[in-house]
Amino acid sequence: MDLFAFTLLLFLLAFIGCCAGQSVLPSGPVDAIVGRNVTLTTLVDKANYDYITWNFNNGAQFNVATLSRSGLKVGTRFQGRASINATNGYLTLTSLTAADGGDYSISILSPEGTQTGDLLLRVLEAVSNVAITSSLPEAIELNSTVVLNCSAKGSFLKFTWTNGTAPIVADGTRLTVKEGDLSSALTIAGVLRTDLLGPIYCTASNSLEKATSAPFNLTVYYGPDQVTITPVNPPEYLKSGSNFSLSCSVLSNPPATFTWYHNEQLMEASGPVLTLDVIEKHGIGSNKEGYTCRAKNAKTQRTVSSPAVSFAVLQAISGITITGPTATLIAGNSTANLSCQATSGTVMSRKWKKNGSPLSPGTRIVFAADMSSVMINPLQKEDNGNYSCELENPVHKVDAAYMMVVNYGPEQVSVKGDKAVKVDNPVKLTCDAESVPAGSFTWRLNDTLTGVTTKTYAIEKAGYQNTGMYTCEVFNTVTGKTSKFTHVLTVKAEITEGLSDGAIAGIVIGVLIAVGIAIGLIFYCRQKVPSRSTGTLQVESPY
Ligand SMILES: *[C@@H]1O[C@H](CO)[C@@H](O)[C@H](O)[C@H]1NC(C)=O
Ligand SMILES: *[C@@H]1O[C@H](CO)[C@@H](O)[C@H](O)[C@H]1NC(C)=O
Ligand SMILES: *[C@@H]1O[C@H](CO)[C@@H](O)[C@H](O)[C@H]1NC(C)=O
Ligand SMILES: *[C@@H]1O[C@H](CO)[C@@H](O)[C@H](O)[C@H]1NC(C)=O
Ligand SMILES: *[C@@H]1O[C@H](CO)[C@@H](O)[C@H](O)[C@H]1NC(C)=O
Ligand SMILES: *[C@@H]1O[C@H](CO)[C@@H](O)[C@H](O)[C@H]1NC(C)=O
Ligand SMILES: *[C@@H]1O[C@H](CO)[C@@H](O)[C@H](O)[C@H]1NC(C)=O
Ligand SMILES: *[C@@H]1O[C@H](CO)[C@@H](O)[C@H](O)[C@H]1NC(C)=O
Repeated sequence: MDLFAFTLLLFLLAFIGCCAGQSVLPSGPVDAIVGRNVTLTTLVDKANYDYITWNFNNGAQFNVATLSRSGLKVGTRFQGRASINATNGYLTLTSLTAADGGDYSISILSPEGTQTGDLLLRVLEAVSNVAITSSLPEAIELNSTVVLNCSAKGSFLKFTWTNGTAPIVADGTRLTVKEGDLSSALTIAGVLRTDLLGPIYCTASNSLEKATSAPFNLTVYYGPDQVTITPVNPPEYLKSGSNFSLSCSVLSNPPATFTWYHNEQLMEASGPVLTLDVIEKHGIGSNKEGYTCRAKNAKTQRTVSSPAVSFAVLQAISGITITGPTATLIAGNSTANLSCQATSGTVMSRKWKKNGSPLSPGTRIVFAADMSSVMINPLQKEDNGNYSCELENPVHKVDAAYMMVVNYGPEQVSVKGDKAVKVDNPVKLTCDAESVPAGSFTWRLNDTLTGVTTKTYAIEKAGYQNTGMYTCEVFNTVTGKTSKFTHVLTVKAEITEGLSDGAIAGIVIGVLIAVGIAIGLIFYCRQKVPSRSTGTLQVESPY
């Protein structure tokens, strides 16, 4: 049989096979990639055949390969690229070209008859060059509409978008996707800062393979968001020169720049921190006024203000002094005007104290309306003491003291000591007096100066000649007053101690009982023993 006759026979058989029995090929199409190999499978397990022949039809008909007992014959068009598996009839084609796409048919001739089948082979271009490009180099949150375009090479491509590993799902409003043959466009309207952190991937795929783009991200500039200023509630008053500052912070990309305002007036200060030092260098702050910072984003051109915080700066109080009278003060005659002043600082409260307790106003004690001075008129002895004045503002408190000496007296002169003393015993008389300054003492006996000028008059051994009137004279050199007290001393041989009231009462009771018993006895004796001699009972009183 020559080749022509053989081929003719096969065509004939193929024709018959197509009309008889079921297909021995799975239903197509089968996809394969240019440059790769493909194996067209059959549904045959173990073929019992005389011939297996594969044909190709792309409008014109070509024999691919034929397997017979004498071996494999490959058609010219597929020379070196086709083989048939002798067990199951699978056709393997290597180094596919786009021209290999088309209909393939098989015929298996055997003594039992002929089996046939056909299917479509699609030769696809490989998926490659998947790349994302953006319509904008950078975006502004909420303002920008970003279009990401994904392009690729290949056949029958489908595109998907992922943010990290999460699929990006078009919602039809903010996020929309428009597919083309070789591209996909993802449109994000009013882009958010989180939208493109990514990495964003685009994947192009066909039924056989897929390729993913390089990771893509795009900077979305945003902010400033809400500006926070700390401390939110600073103290109402700050001490001048103290370590205090305001600071502002805000979320912003790129980082915001800060400017500071005092009562809506721009200050010469920038940066996130405003120190009290800078405020004071502006020569402001003494009144309670508001401060705000404004954050500006150079890319978004947005500016946001912080809430206002307010406080006043107060100076510490210094140079506090109390001035008081310089003349010598005499009770009942003098007047004192105490005045309390500070050389600098804001004084907001003044208080006066005497010996640590608040000084209360009265008829003699009158405060100036602003409490800066107090007038005491007339001074009395009880005005002696330690006066202090306390100047205060919310950041500082100072005080000053003044010792007031009011001269008075002598008053309440008294002499303490024995009134009567047994001869040869010691005697000590002590003279006391209230006096400022302390008085000088002079003792007289029976109006004669004794030469004793101490507080006490001591006699080691009293003689009868020491009896007399002892007068203590106290003299205050400042008030010029003298006061005296006279004490009578008796020196005796024996001291008759006076009896106490109790002793007297005891004696009286004792006497009464004795008298009672005596009277009782008299009556008794008269009754029992008549006409006996009469006795006398005498009771002696010490008086
Ligand atoms: C295709 O088949 C040939 C021959 O069998 C082999 O050398 C080659 O590695 C195969 N190519 C692929 C991509 O599998
Ligand atoms: C033919 O197919 C059979 C069954 O799938 C397999 O075992 C065998 O290795 C194949 N022969 C060749 C030459 O590929
Ligand atoms: C993408 O993000 C990464 C880290 O988040 C960053 O290092 C990289 O520079 C970004 N690339 C672009 C193009 O913004
Ligand atoms: C001011 O206070 C801050 C924190 O309270 C501290 O870190 C800083 O050292 C202080 N500065 C001075 C000069 O005391
Ligand atoms: C953002 O959008 C507003 C209104 O659409 C526009 O006035 C503004 O200039 C935009 N900002 C930037 C930075 O483009
Ligand atoms: C007290 O005042 C009276 C009159 O006001 C005066 O005569 C007298 O000298 C004063 N005494 C002293 C100690 O200053
Ligand atoms: C006390 O003296 C001050 C100044 O010396 C004066 O301003 C003030 O009025 C005086 N106070 C009284 C109650 O006289
Ligand atoms: C003082 O007077 C009393 C009574 O007048 C007299 O007993 C006494 O001796 C006198 N003493 C002196 C030291 O003169």
